[in-house]
Amino acid sequence: MSHIILGIESSCDDTSAAVIRDGWLLSNVIASQQVHKDFGGVVPELASRAHELNIVPVVSQALEKAGVRADELEAIAFTRGPGLLGSLLVGTSFAKALGLSLGKPIVMVNHLQGHILANFIRQEGVPVREPSFPYLCLLVSGGNSQIVKVNSPLEYEILGQTIDDAVGEAFDKCSKMMGLGYPGGPVIDRLAKLGNPDRFHFAKPHIPGLNYSFSGVKTSLLYFVRDEMAQNPDFLEQNKEDICASFQKTLIDILLDKLIKAARQTGIREITIGGGVSANSGLRNRIEEEGRKRHWNTYLPEFKFTTDNAAMIAIAGYFHYQAGERTPLDVAPVSRMADF
Ligand code: KG4
Repeated sequence: MSHIILGIESSCDDTSAAVIRDGWLLSNVIASQQVHKDFGGVVPELASRAHELNIVPVVSQALEKAGVRADELEAIAFTRGPGLLGSLLVGTSFAKALGLSLGKPIVMVNHLQGHILANFIRQEGVPVREPSFPYLCLLVSGGNSQIVKVNSPLEYEILGQTIDDAVGEAFDKCSKMMGLGYPGGPVIDRLAKLGNPDRFHFAKPHIPGLNYSFSGVKTSLLYFVRDEMAQNPDFLEQNKEDICASFQKTLIDILLDKLIKAARQTGIREITIGGGVSANSGLRNRIEEEGRKRHWNTYLPEFKFTTDNAAMIAIAGYFHYQAGERTPLDVAPVSRMADF
């Protein structure tokens, strides 16, 4: 019998629903919220209101595109956390109500696991290429910067993580500080392609072990721009491509330095990346380049699976469901999840 799973994702500002059959993607619908653009960041209250408006049409569309009736679903997987509580409440409550009305089980998923397992989403017409266990995942987003050793779809070890800001936060905050807009990652990525990455140098942290720190490099950029602008008020405008390229290169160097160390220490050569920052073209190129040099097998998620989406929640839910996990209906969403 085939397993058809509906995935629901509502942890931040994307309302998404996806249907998979035995690990193969049938549909993945995402409604991105435009309402936050003028605020320079996600406004939690507006996000949950938009999820409330989007959730029914998004789920209906996902079922329709998949050609699946609601009563054919075997389980409903949903993001329990981490994320914005009001946003998570919408997806969690919807999953519970749907499960109850259909008499189908619900399966909770840690959002970060979704990012880590994104390479297992199978699509018709796309060659299947999946990492073997154990593999290392560089998990990089607006809220996380971690190196995770993935022993099986349900078993994780955090080898290193940031002790202050996440790398996505460094992109976003520095972009805002330079007046380039939000979210900062895509803007800096675009400008960096036009600039010289070796022109400017920013402070790199010296953190022992496999942990990261990104607050120092952020401050280093801030002081550098402030001092240069004091001499030449047009400095930023005249040099923004080179600043972005050099700043991005510094962040990538920091990320790769520890990832290379982790690969060396564990002897693991199966390397993946996940999370919003894994869309960064400089990071993707560099991982592939290091992979060639170091004989790693590298796996980069497709762009559409780097940002928040329900396909990754459905695939993670599928693994949990297969392992026999069922979530009780009194489950509550959580904004933070200490562990996987
Ligand atoms: O995983 P994600 O969609 O959301 C959470 O953090 O929950 O990640 C969002 C982060 C933001 O910080 C955004 O600036 C960053 O991913 N991002 C990028 C790129 N696209 C998105 N960072 C660097 N380069 C990109 N192309």
